[in-house]
Amino acid sequence: MSAAGSDTLVQQVVERFGDTPDPRLREILGSLVRHLHGFIRETRLTEQEWIKGIAFLTAVGQKCDDRRQEFILLSDVLGASMQVVAVQSERPTGCTESTVFGPFHVEGAPQVPNGGDVASGAHGTPCLVRGTVCAANGQEVAGATVDVWQSDDDGLYDVQRPELQRAQGRGVLTTDAHGAFWFRSVVPVPYPIPTDGPVGDLLRTTRRSPWRPAHLHFRIQAPGYETLITHVFRTGDPHLASDPVFGVRPSLVADWPATGEGQHELQFDFVLHRTS
Ligand code: BEZ
Ligand code: FE
Repeated sequence: MSAAGSDTLVQQVVERFGDTPDPRLREILGSLVRHLHGFIRETRLTEQEWIKGIAFLTAVGQKCDDRRQEFILLSDVLGASMQVVAVQSERPTGCTESTVFGPFHVEGAPQVPNGGDVASGAHGTPCLVRGTVCAANGQEVAGATVDVWQSDDDGLYDVQRPELQRAQGRGVLTTDAHGAFWFRSVVPVPYPIPTDGPVGDLLRTTRRSPWRPAHLHFRIQAPGYETLITHVFRTGDPHLASDPVFGVRPSLVADWPATGEGQHELQFDFVLHRTS
């Protein structure tokens, strides 16, 4: 087919979706068709390569069940999840940056009082985490809900240990009258994303690292503010530059200094975006 014929094909497919009543769906499908055809034309994709791609996507689908979402993992390693986060969370400067949610959050984690123990039996180097939640104008946000979750010293989340019948390394705190929260836990360590599926094969074939730099996950919610989903990473972590899911932002990397007796401490201040 000539280049002009190929242009006509793209136009025909876009037009075929032209009667889609939902304008947003029409826009998304039109753009998807243009980019997909552009990719095929740019790479001059062969039929064999196309079949290989279909087989890969089939394997990704077959790996999914109610506990495993290999398509999201694929989106993560392609940087697509982080791109969605980036376009959806353009906030004024000064607000804390968002990053990927990840697959290990559990709704309804135990409530933990300030000063309480989030590790709840998860082993690792003890640490104290202190934080504040405020608005961009400096106003402290009292009563904010701070959901935190993390891996243990083996790099595993509680949900990855089928033998464990209770929450470990996760909890929900509430900020005090000054927007402060604090809890005891263990220092997170780097861990590999799941590599026993087709996404793992992709990483191995392309010589990419599966190791996520150590991090704590946070989801912070307060009435009148945009929900913040983010991580805090550790300064000096060897995997910061090669995070397989592209979640690292320099503003989210913090020191976790040793404070004696094998204990570490993290202090991090979160700034929310006011919506009303
Ligand atoms: C996580 O940090 O929990 C995570 C994020 C994306 C993919 C796998 C794990
Ligand atoms: Fe994580």
